[in-house]
Parts: sequence; C-alpha cells; structure tokens
Amino acid sequence: MMNALIATRANKCLRSDVLAGLSLRRKRLPSKYFYDAVGSRLFDRITDLPEYYPTRTEIGIMHANAGAISERCGSRCLLIELGAGSATKVRILLDRLDRAAGYVPVDVSGEHLRAAAATLAADYPYLDIVPVVADFTTRFAVPERPSRRRVVYFPGSTIGNFDPPEADALLRRIAHLVGEGGGLLLGVDLRKDPEVLERAYNDAAGVTAAFNRNLLVRINRELGADFDVQAFRHVAYYNREESRIEMHLVSDSEQQATVGSTTFDFRAGESIHTENSYKYDVAELAVRAGACGLRLDDTWTDARGYFAVLHFTATPTA
Ligand SMILES: C[S@@+](CC[C@H](N)C(=O)[O-])C[C@H]1O[C@@H](n2cnc3c(N)ncnc32)[C@H](O)[C@@H]1O
Repeated sequence: MMNALIATRANKCLRSDVLAGLSLRRKRLPSKYFYDAVGSRLFDRITDLPEYYPTRTEIGIMHANAGAISERCGSRCLLIELGAGSATKVRILLDRLDRAAGYVPVDVSGEHLRAAAATLAADYPYLDIVPVVADFTTRFAVPERPSRRRVVYFPGSTIGNFDPPEADALLRRIAHLVGEGGGLLLGVDLRKDPEVLERAYNDAAGVTAAFNRNLLVRINRELGADFDVQAFRHVAYYNREESRIEMHLVSDSEQQATVGSTTFDFRAGESIHTENSYKYDVAELAVRAGACGLRLDDTWTDARGYFAVLHFTATPTA
C-alpha cells in the first residue's frame, strides 16, 4: 500500500515535470528521470564503455588513495551516498574504513537501489545498510545512528548534472546534513580536451543514445504518451562557454507527440535538452564550495588530470 502511494506520487511528479518541461520555448526534461530500472542498467553499461573514462579514472584514484581517503573520513563515520546507483565505488571505502557506523545509499531509482543494497549486504554482513529511495534535492530523512561524524559520499560527477545555482544549493544542503566538522567526499569530472569529452558521450556502440532515448520510452510507458522514440536523434556536444556537455534528443522531422491530453509540436531539428554535465576546475569549485560552508582540505587526482576526488569539511555556520 505504502509502495503504491509512493509510486503514485512519483508518477504525478514525472507528469507535471514532463508537461512543464515540454511547454518551454526551449524544451527540457530533468535528467533524474533517466533513471528507471532500465535507465540504471543502461548507465551501468555506459560505465564499462571504452570511451567513458570517468568511472575507470575515479575508481583508479580511489584505489590509489584508499588509505588516505578513508583516514580523512575518520573512524565510526556514518556514510551517506547520494545517487548511489549500483553502489560499486563505495566498496573501496568500506574495505578500508575504520568501523563505519552505517551506510545510507540514497537514490531515486528504487528497484535498482534495493537490489544494490541487498548485494552489498551479502558481502558486508556486519554493516548497517539503510537504503533510502528519495530525490536528494528535496528534504529526506537520514536514519539516526550513533557516529563520530557524518560523511556524504557523492561520486560519479553527478553534481555536474546540476546548473551552478542548483549545485550550490545542493552543496549548502550537504553542509547542513553533515553538520559542522562533517565531511563531503566528492567525485568531479575536470575540464579537458573537448574531443575526449565528446567521445565519452557519443560511444560507438550507441549505449548512451539508448540511455538518452529511454527517457521517452519511460514517458510513453508511465504517462501513456506516444513519442515515436526512433524519430529522435541522440546529440551530445561540449558547450565551451558553459563548460558543460549537453545531451539533446533532436526531432528528425516535423511531428507531434501526445502526453495525456496535451499535444506537443516538434519542428524538424528541434531539440529536447535532456542533460547537462558540467566540467569543473578544482580552484573555482573550492571557492564556490567555501561560500556554501564547505572547506576543501584534500584533492586526489589521476596522472592525466581528468578527474578529481575531493574532501571537504563543513565549516561553522554564521
Ligand atoms: C551519474 S549516475 C552515478 C551513479 C554512481 N554514483 C556512480 O558513481 O557511478 C547518477 C545516479 O544518481 C541518481 N540520481 C540522479 N538524480 C537524482 C536525484 N535528484 N535524487 C536521487 N538520486 C538521483 C541516479 O539514479 C543514478 O543512480
């Protein structure tokens, strides 16, 4: 009954966000809706693609610095992971942390999260794992556990999916969530040669294209819409001015799609902007995070400088 209620509420949010986004002059859809069960599995396939360097690079940084990173997190910490997905990278931390007080993976993709938490529980039977299905941009309850410190783990450069004012709001929320002296361990993708970036989002096997189009498949299924999914092309490119990869679904021809009782017109070549992935500069990010109550105190990166794992400490609030 409770699950059905939650599902109905989630469906209402999807409907209102889709109707609002497609009514804009420049059509947009929120990227969090990529992640139904199929989308989460497609994302996992993306992380294994030869062109997609971020996951491999971040895992390499985590392995190379596991001791120092775990020490930074401290003993008896309550680890809260935002956008946990398959909860793969956290294993590197869990293998080294000194007596974690608990692990709270948070994700909107409920089915996928519960399966990931069950797999993890089988491998870490001593660990108190409490999965929370929630949108981390909204208020959600973190289970109380006796701990020395709260640490938010936010890997995968998921923060890059938010426009700067939204990302800053999220950083403030995290500072508040962990409280003074608490930590944030953040994985961010760094600015680099646009060719490398564009290759990562335009893989030869077409998995990223399928991931992008799955948004329309989901809208058709969950909202009874009638998008001709194959009539929308996957387009991803680097916007230098904004330092971000943009993903779009571009209409191949003049067409219409109906969502419930609302019909939307598409011109040939018109796009639905589905995702941004901002690329960071560590010094700039440190200044922004500082203004949000988070002091950068450690930076770990790879030899090419492609990706960074950063540790911040929440500062006293004014
Ligand atoms: C880019 S993937 C990263 C997955 C994993 N953390 C990693 O590093 O590979 C983003 C993850 O965040 C989740 N997500 C995206 N927006 C979210 C939101 N607003 N609230 C909760 N989870 C969200 C997605 O379901 C997905 O699992």
